[in-house]
Amino acid sequence: MRTAVTGGAGFIGSHLVEYLLERGDDVAIIDNLSTGRLENLQAVLEHPRLTFVEGTILDRGAVDEVVLGADRVFHLAAAVGVHLIVDHPLDSLRTNIHGTEVVLDASLAAGATLLMASTSEIYGKNAADSLPEESDRILGSPLKSRWTYAAAKGIDEAFAHGYWREFGLQVSIVRLFNTVGPRQTGRYGMVVPNLVGQALRGQPLTVFGDGRQTRCFSYVGDVVPAMVRIAENRRGRGQAVNLGGSFEVSILDLARRIIEVLGSDSKITLVPYAQAYGEGYEDMRRRVPDNTKARRLVGFDPATTLDEIIVSVAEDSSMAPAAQNAGLADQLLAG
Ligand SMILES: NC(=O)c1ccc[n+]([C@@H]2O[C@H](COP(=O)([O-])OP(=O)(O)OC[C@H]3O[C@@H](n4cnc5c(N)ncnc54)[C@H](O)[C@@H]3O)[C@@H](O)[C@H]2O)c1
Repeated sequence: MRTAVTGGAGFIGSHLVEYLLERGDDVAIIDNLSTGRLENLQAVLEHPRLTFVEGTILDRGAVDEVVLGADRVFHLAAAVGVHLIVDHPLDSLRTNIHGTEVVLDASLAAGATLLMASTSEIYGKNAADSLPEESDRILGSPLKSRWTYAAAKGIDEAFAHGYWREFGLQVSIVRLFNTVGPRQTGRYGMVVPNLVGQALRGQPLTVFGDGRQTRCFSYVGDVVPAMVRIAENRRGRGQAVNLGGSFEVSILDLARRIIEVLGSDSKITLVPYAQAYGEGYEDMRRRVPDNTKARRLVGFDPATTLDEIIVSVAEDSSMAPAAQNAGLADQLLAG
């Protein structure tokens, strides 16, 4: 199987690439290394079945280089992270809308199937008890750049659906809910690596707002195999499928749990949203996935616990000096 991965040097992309190589695929990556890093691919960079192209998905020629000849494409390249979206709304919109159109078109021309990564941000401020895929979207003003990511990913989904209906492109969409794990960087506002990093350094854990907003975190090691199974399942074509964690936790409780699991002396500091992201920032109070469809389609069962996730992130070599992290899991999870 020949597989192209856009955004393959990113957090989720690099885990996906390793998984696909292990399964025997030939893998070709395109990534512009904007938020991704070659170090994420350290374990496989010299792999004989891996090709890496440094380039942007806005460049059709570069995309064709990896997509032509592929049996399937995983499209993960995107401008992600609240800070990046808020600071560079135009670049983010271009990458996330036009870049996706390029990848859709190239996949169609190659006769490849396509799995596209979308997001729970699609649901915006819909705080229902749980969100099945057909839930309504409740978005803030398009003039607030915070919502442009959700708006762009919504257009991506509509584009993908159009390519499926009008051209028969074999495309499936996964809506990821706060996927976390090793290699996720805190640089662009991701909460788990940020809080874990602060706890490891003995700094105050900065929790935004009142900290009572909740999320359902899912582990990248649970999500990646499900993405591949969805890509391979014909019944998922032309559809969007939620992939989220099964436990809901407030950010304040997450911070407390991180301190406890890592045995940190850090305290928690509440930071107003305006200070963190500028005036007018809007957050969602809660976002709970309904994973029924993924469970029925591919037996999705996100089994990794929050404590296990925290330890895996703390052990990540990019988080702190390796010596500090070595054997952390053994110490923390012993007994
Ligand atoms: N991590 C999450 O919780 C989460 C949640 C919902 C959706 N997603 C989606 O999953 C995908 C992967 O996200 P991630 O968390 O691994 O983030 P990431 O930033 O680590 O990965 C994105 C990758 O895309 C690359 N990229 C960005 N712009 C590009 C361009 N123009 N051309 C080529 N490559 C480009 C980056 O360098 C990076 O390697 C994204 O599509 C994102 O929207 C992630």
